[in-house]
Amino acid sequence: MLAHSVRNTRVASVLFYVLFYVVTCPPSSAQSPSRPYATDQLRSGASFMAQHLQKQQADDDQNPAMLWVDSGRALFERDCKTCHTEARGLATKLPRVTIDSTTKKERVITLESQINTCRSTRVKTQGANASTPYALESEPLLSLASYLAFSSRGMTQEIAANITQTVSWQRARAMFFAVQGKLDFSCAACHDKIAGKRVRTQAISQGHGVGFPAYRIEWQTVGSLNRRLRACFFGMEADVPAASDPILPALELYLAWRASGLPIEAPALRR
Ligand code: HEC
Ligand code: HEC
Repeated sequence: MLAHSVRNTRVASVLFYVLFYVVTCPPSSAQSPSRPYATDQLRSGASFMAQHLQKQQADDDQNPAMLWVDSGRALFERDCKTCHTEARGLATKLPRVTIDSTTKKERVITLESQINTCRSTRVKTQGANASTPYALESEPLLSLASYLAFSSRGMTQEIAANITQTVSWQRARAMFFAVQGKLDFSCAACHDKIAGKRVRTQAISQGHGVGFPAYRIEWQTVGSLNRRLRACFFGMEADVPAASDPILPALELYLAWRASGLPIEAPALRR
């Protein structure tokens, strides 16, 4: 009994110092916060899949997402080539943070939202029905995003050095660690803590976004990272954010920072 309570007191005082440290040294302050996986430990989602799916993803003749890449290429050549002579590298600039000129607030620009900005303000092609942004998860938007991500395969996303100082990164990080939903999980509880283990029939990966847009067998179509993230909120039995909720682009940004150095492998094949 006595030993037990002594131990409890010790645990309590250790906990106190840990908490004290956490409170007085918030990770997002002066020193730069560390990533859960060192660069040489980063593993893409593909490496957690069964061999036959990895092979199918790697073979462009077998990867169903290549159909979207092909139609994206055609749209790009019709509408975008006038300004962007080279598709390679365009996707590496995103996601990034910008300050909205009217509201003076931060906004995260994703690959999909940048495509829509260019489409609705810049594309002049006759008959392209320009000035109307594409709907999220629509065929042309997924196709252009797949083509651009494909064109940057093997390259890494460029993340601004001061990204951890942005409100968007900080909000997303808080969300990543927040315990939520009926199952009391956080994103970190699965993707930082138990990557490599199985939940039901699925192997948990490190949770990187570099394979998206991806063809998911469960969806029977290509989907965006935004959609994949909403599926994880659903799986946690937590409140699922609307597709337009700014927390989703912020999470995309956080994930890109967390995966810094991991090459783009989109469009991936996933279960
Ligand atoms: C209960 C465990 C669990 C939780 C909690 C969870 N996920 Fe997932 N997540 C999965 C599983 C299972 C998959 C599909 C297999 C894989 O890639 O891990 C997945 C896939 C992903 C992927 C795609 C990885 C790829 O390469 O295809 C991303 C990105 C992701 N999750 C991010 C998140 C984020 C952000 C949160 C918090 C909002 C979250 N996850 C919460 C289990 C979880
Ligand atoms: C009239 C010229 C013009 C056209 C047409 C155009 N863009 Fe852009 N695009 C730009 C400029 C300028 C930028 C630089 C960033 C900004 O100001 O938004 C840019 C940036 C981008 C980026 C981010 C890469 C970077 O360097 O910042 C992507 C991705 C992109 N455009 C995709 C497209 C797609 C897809 C189309 C066709 C649907 C398209 N653009 C059509 C001018 C154009």
